[in-house]
Amino acid sequence: MTNTQPKTPRSITIFDTTLRDGEQSPGASMNLAEKLEVAQALSDLGVDVMEAGFPIASPGDFEAVREIATTIRGPIICGLARCNDGDIDRAWEALQKAKQARIHVFLATSAIHREFKLRMTQDEIIARAVKGVERAVSYCDDVEFSAEDAARTEIDFLCRVVEAAIKAGATTINIPDTVGYTTPNEMYQRIEALINRVPNIDKAILSCHCHDDLGMAVANSLAAVQAGAGQIECTINGIGERAGNCSLEEVVMAMRTRGEMYNTTTRIVTERLVPVSRLLCKITGLDVQRNKAVVGRNAFAHESGIHQDGMLKERSTYEIMRPEDVGFSKTDLVLGKHSGRAALADRAKELGYSLTGEQLQTVFEQFKTLADKKKEIYDGDIVALIQQQISGPTQRVWSLTSFSVSSGTGKVPCVELTLQHGDEHFTERVEQGDGPIDAAFWAVEKITGIKVVCKDFRVRSATIGRDALGEVTLEVEHEGQQYRGMGASTDSVESTILAMLNAVNRIVTEKAVRSQSRVTPQDS
Ligand code: KIV
Ligand code: ZN
Repeated sequence: MTNTQPKTPRSITIFDTTLRDGEQSPGASMNLAEKLEVAQALSDLGVDVMEAGFPIASPGDFEAVREIATTIRGPIICGLARCNDGDIDRAWEALQKAKQARIHVFLATSAIHREFKLRMTQDEIIARAVKGVERAVSYCDDVEFSAEDAARTEIDFLCRVVEAAIKAGATTINIPDTVGYTTPNEMYQRIEALINRVPNIDKAILSCHCHDDLGMAVANSLAAVQAGAGQIECTINGIGERAGNCSLEEVVMAMRTRGEMYNTTTRIVTERLVPVSRLLCKITGLDVQRNKAVVGRNAFAHESGIHQDGMLKERSTYEIMRPEDVGFSKTDLVLGKHSGRAALADRAKELGYSLTGEQLQTVFEQFKTLADKKKEIYDGDIVALIQQQISGPTQRVWSLTSFSVSSGTGKVPCVELTLQHGDEHFTERVEQGDGPIDAAFWAVEKITGIKVVCKDFRVRSATIGRDALGEVTLEVEHEGQQYRGMGASTDSVESTILAMLNAVNRIVTEKAVRSQSRVTPQDS
């Protein structure tokens, strides 16, 4: 008699590395407050492990891992280290306050890395890996070992390294496709070979970590799972080194939507995928393309008449996932002039933001001002107002009091600007620049004394309609460092001034922190 009982789904560990590998992508660096915001959102999303950073990399990375380990509860908090004492000790120093900590040690194993980067023999690699794992185990029971460039490592040698790392105490073995070179078939065979050939493999969880250089990171991760891997390493929106990492939202929704194929479960609260994706876009300034699977603006938009007709008759004709299951709200039109603070707080929560009382008060005041200007307030407007409030330094050193602008064909633009600093107000009138935006930049620079080079300037509408909020996202350089700024208003010159002030406040705050932490001769 054949057994017709369905198999119990296998639970897959979701290891998020948005704050480590993701943060390594160009333009994605975050400050401490931003990392904490993302960390809380990831915890609410239900990730099992959160790689919070690479503590030895910089004092900022160390501080972020320490702060996340101290304050975020729920997921296992993980810190990355190379296989050397200094890295591992520093990682543990940052992690020790975590309720559940993991040290993640890595060492390259492929011939190309051994020969050209490390100049080490196979035996030396094994010895170093074992020493690293043993040191990490001396601090904490939960240790992950990654064989960097595993996808290009000779399988016989990879089996030896994995066996030795498990024997030394590693509880998770990660198989990275560091350069995004492998294919689904190859990945499947590699994981299958490790399961069949490494005698102590049952003592550890096998993990995959796929980069997207050939656009196959999600497919390769799914293949690893089908072969028996129990953990997927991934990032929100797929951000990461070069072309990025396996996208969390795609791999999770693939397993959920094709349950009969993968027979797996995760703890991810899928309704939070879109809010977290949006939060990361706002914080990093890295937008996802409209047609991005699962979280893109067009992911559920049906344009063709035939599709729309089918959808009206039966949704499943053209829809394999429900938008509400990934966090797109059913209705976009939400609040108006008469909506109260509680309604705004509710909506903010649904959109994935938990605001402090003070933040809510400020957003509410801005919401009321906006409601006087435009009748219908959409989710996009609310997100823009909240982001403007929460992104950037907590200290608002400079704020906008008022401005006026005049410009026109053949006229030199003129901006009169008043800014507040403490209890004082400063006014400048500037008649220069090639347009009102340029003039606004000059005026802010003149009052604050902070000179910047504008590297990127983007304006987009937060919602539909001519009366939509215009969001300005800026990237500026000041004394060799890059800073971001974001501002939103129905007036694009005002958005620019707000974005510029957001960037200026980051510069001033960071400078103050740096000068406080500077070691004086008496300290040393
Ligand atoms: O891509 C990679 O190999 C990594 C390791 C540090 C896991 O990010
Ligand atoms: Zn990586």
